[in-house]
Amino acid sequence: MLEVLKRLKRGAFALRERVKIRREVRKAFAWDERMFMRNAGALHLDRKTAAEAAIVMAYHVLEKGLTMPHRRMGFGKGAVVHLINLVEDFEKRFGAATPQVAHAARVLKAYRELHAGWPEPMPRLDAFLAKRPSLAAATQPHVKRDDFFAAKDAPFPAFAASRHVCRHFAGPVPKDALESALKIALTAPSACNRQHARVHVIEDARLRDGLFALQGGTRGFGQDASAVLVVTADLSTARWAWERHDAYTNGGIFVLNLCYALHYCGIAHCILHWSVAPKADKAAHRLLGIPEREAIVQVLACGTPPEEFDIASSPRRSLEEVVTWHS
Ligand SMILES: Cc1cc2nc3c(=O)[nH]c(=O)nc-3n(C[C@H](O)[C@H](O)[C@H](O)COP(=O)(O)O)c2cc1C
Repeated sequence: MLEVLKRLKRGAFALRERVKIRREVRKAFAWDERMFMRNAGALHLDRKTAAEAAIVMAYHVLEKGLTMPHRRMGFGKGAVVHLINLVEDFEKRFGAATPQVAHAARVLKAYRELHAGWPEPMPRLDAFLAKRPSLAAATQPHVKRDDFFAAKDAPFPAFAASRHVCRHFAGPVPKDALESALKIALTAPSACNRQHARVHVIEDARLRDGLFALQGGTRGFGQDASAVLVVTADLSTARWAWERHDAYTNGGIFVLNLCYALHYCGIAHCILHWSVAPKADKAAHRLLGIPEREAIVQVLACGTPPEEFDIASSPRRSLEEVVTWHS
C-alpha cells in the first residue's frame, strides 16, 4: 500500500513537472518569436544593420560566382543589378559606406574587370563605376593546394587564418583522413559534456543530390563533393525549456571544431546553411533516415581540391565593429 502511494506521488510529481516544462517551452518560443519579429532583418530592412546585411549577402553571391569552378561568363546579371540597387539605396539613406558596403563596390568592379571583353553592354554597372573612378577591384585569392593546407602545423593564429571554405572538389576524401578529422572534432566542448552532436556521412551521390536540392546553396559545385557531412544535435540532451537553443549552440561549436579538423587533415570543406522550411527539414530527415530527435544543424560538402583554385575573399569586420567593452 505504501509502495503504491509512493508510486502515485512520484507519478503526480512527474506530471506536474511535464506540465510546467511544457508551459515554459511555449513561453520560451513565444519570446523567441517576439524577438525575431521585432528585430529580424528580413522584417526590418529600413534599419541600417539590416540593409548592410542584405548588401553583404548580395556581394557574397557575386564573390562566390567570381570564384566558382564551373563559372560561365555573363553569370549573375540580375545579382549585379540587385547589389547596385542595394548599395545606392544604402548610401542615399545612411550616407557614407561602411567598410562592408565599400567592399561590395569593389566586388562590382572585379565583376566588371572579369567581363572587360564581354560583348554584352552593362550600362547600369558602368554608370555605377563611373561615379567611383579610383575604386580598386576586390581580389579573390588564387591558391595552390599545397599552400592552402601549408599552415597545418603553424601556430593557431596562422592556422585559423588559413582555413577557408573551398568550393572546388576534384577528388574523393580519403576515409582515414576523414576518420581522423571526425575524431579530432570530438574534442569540441559541450554543455555539461552532453556531447549533443552527431554526424551522418553521406557518400551516396543520389542522397547527396537529393539533400542539396532541398538545401539550395550548392549550385555550381555541390555535384563535385565526394562526401557530405550532416551534423545534427540530439534533442534528447535538452534537460529544460530554456535549453531550446542548445542543439544549435553546441552543434555549432562542434561544426567549427570539425572545420578546423578537416582543414588540419587536408580535406577541403564548404559549410552549408540549414536554414530551410519545415517541409524541407522533414524531407531531409526522411531521405537520409535521420531520426526525428536529431535536429539538423549544418551540412558540410567535402572533397579533395584540385592543384589550384580560387577562394572568395570574404573580408572580416574590424575588432571595433564587433567588440563592445563593458568595463
Ligand atoms: C552557417 C553557415 C552557412 C553557410 N552556408 C553556405 C551555403 O549554403 N553555400 C555556400 O556556398 N557557402 C556557405 N557558407 C560559407 C560562407 O560563405 C563562408 O564561410 C564565409 O563567406 C566565410 O568564408 P571562409 O569560411 O572562407 O572564411 C556558410 C557558412 C556558414 C558559417
